[in-house]
Amino acid sequence: MTIAATQTFPGPAWDDLPDVTVLESWPPPEPLPGVDVLAEAVVAVGPGELDLLPDLRLVANYGVGYDRVDVVACRERGVAVANTPGVLDAAVADLTLALILACRRHLVASDRFVREGRWERGWARPELLGRDLAGSSLGLVGMGRIGSEVARRAEAFGMRVIHHRRRDGLPLDELLRRTDVVSLHVPLTPETEGLISRERLALLQDGATLVNTARGAIVDEEALGDELVSGRISAGLDVFAEEPRVPERLLDLPNVVLTPHIASATVETREAMTRVLVDNVLAFLRGEPLPNAVSG
Ligand code: DGY
Repeated sequence: MTIAATQTFPGPAWDDLPDVTVLESWPPPEPLPGVDVLAEAVVAVGPGELDLLPDLRLVANYGVGYDRVDVVACRERGVAVANTPGVLDAAVADLTLALILACRRHLVASDRFVREGRWERGWARPELLGRDLAGSSLGLVGMGRIGSEVARRAEAFGMRVIHHRRRDGLPLDELLRRTDVVSLHVPLTPETEGLISRERLALLQDGATLVNTARGAIVDEEALGDELVSGRISAGLDVFAEEPRVPERLLDLPNVVLTPHIASATVETREAMTRVLVDNVLAFLRGEPLPNAVSG
């Protein structure tokens, strides 16, 4: 069996794989017959790419989100897909809380304030007054593993947590109207693309904060930009519709905190993700059921 990878992945588990060919570019410049397994992160795998790997049988996706892999096209060609769920919930939840705190307490703006020499008077000035987390409300859109971890942390900060998901919780529009902070924890699917539309963004209260550590395309990015430019709301954004492109007009705004898709970026979590990816590949090589098969 031949394994190709779009990059190497961190941690000792990577060495458990037999020979891996690390591709210099993606998609490959010419067809690569004979590749059975592709280990990949953050690349598109659709019909065009699958044509270039005619013997592929497994796409091992590094990450829980597999929205860039065309699972239907894979299935039609008999290519299985696996992901790495379960090991990044705490890291993503931590970053979510970090973004909530950063927005509600003006952390980044305060840092700039100091560095730019604008701190000229004592601390009892009104410039950088934030809002308490304790007593404020958090609306979680999605209440799976990551959403639940966020809820635990937010409750420890004294926030009142409510949620919306398909089978229970508050209707989405009501949640948007009622909460001080809204955080997104749904996968990107045809149903969730554009879920937080211009009309829904308008439901947010003045002064509300939107946090997105899920996927950029869940929000109408143009409409979010308009809301942020108006200063009506604030946002903590780890993800964008067309990464690594970040809308230019966000860059100078004091009411948005921007991070480069780092929610799972801790040594421990990224190594654990490699372990799960490698276990998926090893199971495949042994002809066993995939521990984390994705059905689409
Ligand atoms: C994932 O696993 O999908 C995350 O976005 C990586 O941080």
